[in-house]
Amino acid sequence: MIEIEDLWKAYKENQVLKGLSLKVNTGETVVILGRSGVGKSVLLKHIIGIAHPDRGSIEVDGIRVSDLYGEKRCSAVRHMGMLFQGAALFDSMNIEDNTGFFLEQHGNLDQGKKYSKSEIQDRVDAALRMVDLEGTQKKMPSDLSGGMRKRAGLARLIVYRPKYLLYDEPTTGLDPITAMQINELIVKTQKELQATSIVVTHDIVSALHVGDRLSLHKEGKIAYIDTPDAFLKIDDPVIEFLRKIIAGAPRTFERKKDD
Ligand SMILES: Nc1ncnc2c1ncn2[C@@H]1O[C@H](COP(=O)(O)OP(=O)(O)O)[C@@H](O)[C@H]1O
Ligand SMILES: [Mg+2]
Repeated sequence: MIEIEDLWKAYKENQVLKGLSLKVNTGETVVILGRSGVGKSVLLKHIIGIAHPDRGSIEVDGIRVSDLYGEKRCSAVRHMGMLFQGAALFDSMNIEDNTGFFLEQHGNLDQGKKYSKSEIQDRVDAALRMVDLEGTQKKMPSDLSGGMRKRAGLARLIVYRPKYLLYDEPTTGLDPITAMQINELIVKTQKELQATSIVVTHDIVSALHVGDRLSLHKEGKIAYIDTPDAFLKIDDPVIEFLRKIIAGAPRTFERKKDD
């Protein structure tokens, strides 16, 4: 479970988080919607520990990770993976080296030992299979399309089987079909790893596809969080706007999650 309480963060005069609270239950996928610039990426960076709050707390499985720094912090969030807004692959490494990079570097974090070459190879192959990138092992990131790079980025997370997955705008900049493939992969990954996930997006199609609960990040806080049906009934101009998008393209909004 991730529990965020009264989180505050300012960058100089820019007060980004203003007492934000959010609870994500074990095994669920919470979507965070919100206009660009409200602080969605900032929030994820706090959860994964690359940004520190001015005030407030973040607990992961009962551990107050926001009080930890350096190695202790890394260790406390070792079961967490984040898919950054760009896929953030290393351009000079082929796909299998990219995918295995963290396994190679960090080894088995729970047991504090290195993985063998064949162990890494097996896990890399399995991760690439899961994102439908079998056979791309020797390709370079520049050989792949945007959607494939996103999937390779996801493989790099899946490979160490995190219990928590944070996705920052996973479908932004992708065409609708590729975006839907990514949505399906998010659901598949969720099931396979039985992970707890937070998906930041401004794409309502994606939100409805992957989310158990939807929330709106607004004015420095999570203004609302509810089941998709209840969320979409909330009287708020941003949600009204989302309703209009849905009304304009009803067929794309069938939920797939419970198939
Ligand atoms: N490292 C930083 N230093 C200064 N300002 C930042 C930093 N990171 C984010 N911000 C500011 O915080 C605000 C929220 O940014 P961000 O979380 O990226 O928005 P979004 O909701 O689009 O993801 C923006 O005004 C951004 O300029
Ligand atoms: Mg962002």
